[in-house]
Amino acid sequence: MTIFIRGGTIVTAEGRQRGDVLCAGGRIAAVGDGLEVPTGAAIVDAGGMLVMPGGIDPHTHMEMPFMGSVSSDDFFTGTAAGLAGGTTSIIDFVIPDAGGSMIEAFEAWRGRAEKAAADYGFHVAVTDWSERVRDEMTELTRRGVSSFKHFMAYKGALMVDDGVLLHSIGHALSLGALCSVHAENGDAVAHLQKALLARGITGPKGHPLSRPPEVEGEAATRAIALARVMGAPLYVVHVSTRQAAEAIAAARMSGQRVFGEVLAQHLVIDDSVYDSDDFAYAAGHVMSPPFRPKAHQAALWAGLASGQLQTTASDHCCFCASQKAQGAEDFTRIPNGTAGIEDRMGVLWHHGVGGGHLTAEEFVAVTSANTARIFGLYPRKGTIQPGADADIVVWDPYASRTVSARTHHQNIDFSVYEGMELTGLARSTIAAGRLVWHDGTLRAERGAGRYLKRSLHAPITGMGTGLGDNA
Ligand code: URP
Ligand code: ZN
Ligand code: ZN
Ligand code: ZN
Repeated sequence: MTIFIRGGTIVTAEGRQRGDVLCAGGRIAAVGDGLEVPTGAAIVDAGGMLVMPGGIDPHTHMEMPFMGSVSSDDFFTGTAAGLAGGTTSIIDFVIPDAGGSMIEAFEAWRGRAEKAAADYGFHVAVTDWSERVRDEMTELTRRGVSSFKHFMAYKGALMVDDGVLLHSIGHALSLGALCSVHAENGDAVAHLQKALLARGITGPKGHPLSRPPEVEGEAATRAIALARVMGAPLYVVHVSTRQAAEAIAAARMSGQRVFGEVLAQHLVIDDSVYDSDDFAYAAGHVMSPPFRPKAHQAALWAGLASGQLQTTASDHCCFCASQKAQGAEDFTRIPNGTAGIEDRMGVLWHHGVGGGHLTAEEFVAVTSANTARIFGLYPRKGTIQPGADADIVVWDPYASRTVSARTHHQNIDFSVYEGMELTGLARSTIAAGRLVWHDGTLRAERGAGRYLKRSLHAPITGMGTGLGDNA
């Protein structure tokens, strides 16, 4: 399929220019003003629109077994919903059972992901330490995995201690792979959960009380210190507090390579959602880290605007009301997670660019380019230049829509953004050179997504040679 995107304003993280984009054979073939239209090309008129790299969501959990349930969007429905919102790639998480083989888990996830409608890569979680884990990490890097995830929370399930973290960070560094952390002190969370339940606090209100901002600040600070000890870069997922944002900024100001990710939902939703007496509503917002007092949002926006926080994600992890109900008598049993892959780009545009926090170029940086650079996908993804994958969103900056679970494409009966009016939307989405979303019609194709092998030694992490030698 040859697609000619005519007459838009092409925006990358570096700048903007008026022009056309020619896509052929799944790649961008040419970018320029007044390009010739090849015969037979499908024309997408981008007059008055912005032409930007398709979003990359670096943090999703499709059909993930978690807390006695399985997240309800599978790799097809979840990636299809992403396409409708302008997101053309995801990096999902392989989570091995404690003591189980990372390779077997990786292969299981690859099998599930074969139905994906958009390109996907995998981070793999390290959940314990042994010679086998070390060897499997090495083998996984040969299979295109360039980042490993560590949960400092979820005690008794996925949580790792500092010893595991140190081993893993050290080995990942020797491989040229990046380590990431879910930064919450799992011991503190477990302690507070027990105390709250003993006091009879069993409803969703207990969730944020068991995970106060300090719990995240402590873990982020500790992980950063451990990475510093090892001389390794670090990526902190879903930064939701001023404390964690400041810890990352301070480390960066001291010359350490630390990266921080922000979830769109933490930027615009605060902890008042847990005050509701409607269990389904409050439980629908149970995710970790939880929604925070409003004051934290300013620190997150400032972090993105200043470049101290680099990426945005959705942590897309859907659980329907019937699944959330398993925690009706005990908030610690509510499956943690919220949906958001479809609305991340819209929320970032409306509240970020529309709200005066971000320029259009910074929007591209935090929705795709920085993720591609940090996770070994650049310049195949995250930019608009000849040779890059034809993953493009034609963005109408003035059109508006109202978010609702009744109309979204995600396989969940709830939206944390219900009723939110957003100006700015994906008019057309082109993924791997195919027009998969246009004027509200979704043509996602089951199985069209490809597995993304990611490069090691991403230069931005400081593990590269700095000379473009990615060997
Ligand atoms: O609540 C969340 N975020 N669920 C998904 C797992 C995780 O911690 O990222
Ligand atoms: Zn997490
Ligand atoms: Zn997550
Ligand atoms: Zn190497």
